[in-house]
Amino acid sequence: ASGLHTLAKAAGKLYFGTATDNPELTDTAYVAKLDDNKEFGQITPGNSMKWDATEPERGTFTFSAGDVIANLAKTNGQLLRGHNCVWYNQLPSWVANGQFTAADLTDVIQTHCGTLVGHYKDSWDVINEPFNDDGTWRSDVFYNTLGTQFVPIALQAARAADPNAKLYINDYNIEQQGAKATAMLNLVKQLQADGVPIDGVGFQCHFIVGEVPGTFQETLEQFTALGVEVAITELDIRMTLPSTDALLAQQEKDYQTVVQACMNVDGCVGITIWDWTDKYSWVPSTFPGQGAACPWDENFNKKPAYSGIVAAL
Ligand code: XIL
Repeated sequence: ASGLHTLAKAAGKLYFGTATDNPELTDTAYVAKLDDNKEFGQITPGNSMKWDATEPERGTFTFSAGDVIANLAKTNGQLLRGHNCVWYNQLPSWVANGQFTAADLTDVIQTHCGTLVGHYKDSWDVINEPFNDDGTWRSDVFYNTLGTQFVPIALQAARAADPNAKLYINDYNIEQQGAKATAMLNLVKQLQADGVPIDGVGFQCHFIVGEVPGTFQETLEQFTALGVEVAITELDIRMTLPSTDALLAQQEKDYQTVVQACMNVDGCVGITIWDWTDKYSWVPSTFPGQGAACPWDENFNKKPAYSGIVAAL
């Protein structure tokens, strides 16, 4: 086996992995490729462990879809990254529109994170996307009700549920030097000073062809210098369609640059792409006119980007 996970392991990383999602699992050719040639040693559920999927009504937990992904990973011998406990998006309305006292929302977060992390004992994105791009806190039900305390409340509940889980905060646009990365650095320092469990920071890495930030490795190193691990959690590199040979060649370089940054940093434990094939990428529906962001095309053929990853591993 010479797949990406095999290469990453041989180079000292824990995993090379991919996101997947329940609707795609009816595609048998897709499912076969998920477990083919040790390309992927780790799986992240794209949607089925989010709040709307797991606790649609207060205190009523539905694990069926998440369990499908967890069982698939187990069958394939792949690690799982839980995604996610606390996020402003894809919330059921009872949370998003709820009128909570601080004590009540504390209880809601503790129950949600504790139950999820207890059910899926693995790495977890406990907090997802807490900051605005200017480094201020995102205005959502959590921050508006509890201030910054929602972060330690969630992390402590997760730790209580699984003493061995790697607990992460995950965000985008923290890959480059700037206000948002600084805000995340300061949050990690504050949590450490307060004795709050924090094991890792996830860098989503939803990039644009030709626009990979030049300071990515330096930023990763600033975090590992604090003693937390880092991971690339949602990598894809999109382009304005249609794709051209020139864009695909630039994308190959960009994938190599991003993966190389993780390879160069000891505390960068692994790399997850946000699905491996353009057929099931989230990009075209989220960024109209853009796509072709994954290392395999819609017909499951390897693109030049695949060679870029291999070159870095
Ligand atoms: C995306 C999923 O891939 C889509 O299927 C869904 O419609 C929206 O969410 N950052 C995250 C992920 O942390 O949870 C998002 O996933 C992509 C951006």
